[in-house]
Amino acid sequence: MQPIGVFDSGVGGLSVLKALRQALPQERFVYVSDAGHAPYGERDVAHVLARSVAIGRYLVQSHQVKALVVACNTATAAAIAALRAAHPALPIVGVEPALKPAAGRSRTGAVGVLATRGTLASDKFQALLRAQSLQVRFVLQACDGLAAAIESADAPQVHALCTRYTAALGPVGTAPGAIDTMVLGCTHYTFAAEVLQDLLGPEVELIDAGDPVAQRTVNLLAQAGDLQPEPSDAGAAWLELWTTGEAQTLQDAAQRWLVATGPAHKVEIG
Ligand code: DGL
Repeated sequence: MQPIGVFDSGVGGLSVLKALRQALPQERFVYVSDAGHAPYGERDVAHVLARSVAIGRYLVQSHQVKALVVACNTATAAAIAALRAAHPALPIVGVEPALKPAAGRSRTGAVGVLATRGTLASDKFQALLRAQSLQVRFVLQACDGLAAAIESADAPQVHALCTRYTAALGPVGTAPGAIDTMVLGCTHYTFAAEVLQDLLGPEVELIDAGDPVAQRTVNLLAQAGDLQPEPSDAGAAWLELWTTGEAQTLQDAAQRWLVATGPAHKVEIG
């Protein structure tokens, strides 16, 4: 039974993996955190591209994955085209900031976007932004350091950075022109959702891309005739965790966010 490969620069992709496991409880997953070469969001495109291609190759060659989920907005922007070119027969799903769903939800017509510097600067994101309705105002905020603070579970730093970046957005809430919808455009930020919600207030809706990515993965596997048939519990809860960084960090995060998983293993990928 071939697993589905999922990777991110660190623990952020676990937020996508959580949605994937809910949508596909019968499947097996191999997760790679590239924490030894992170953060991606503040590195140059060539670095993120090279790392993503190396991890894609590793997942295909060493784990024979039947699909690949790039659970990182920054890596998707930098490398999804290269990954598709390198593995033309493999279903590959990326993640990008949910601008369109957010625009559809906003009543004030103002949407905030929190993402990495790399994502916001990418051609892919700029094209996505240009494709949105002119009726909606998007306020973009690069959140330097936030993914790293979440990665190291540094709660005071997460709070300080969320405070700084949400304050920079301008008025939030339901008053005319205020931001009432917030896109979490980095998979790490889902793990700061409670802090962000506290700071922004209950009226602001937070939107991430975990569920749409999971749904897209289901659809692609179904099209390829590669869904593990139900009913079967062959894959239930089967998950391998690999990291180029500290095994304990990934293991602790998985225990915290995915609730009880096995050990994480260290691996060199290059
Ligand atoms: N989790 C990644 C994303 O979705 C980026 C975090 C990082 O900067 O490494 O963009």
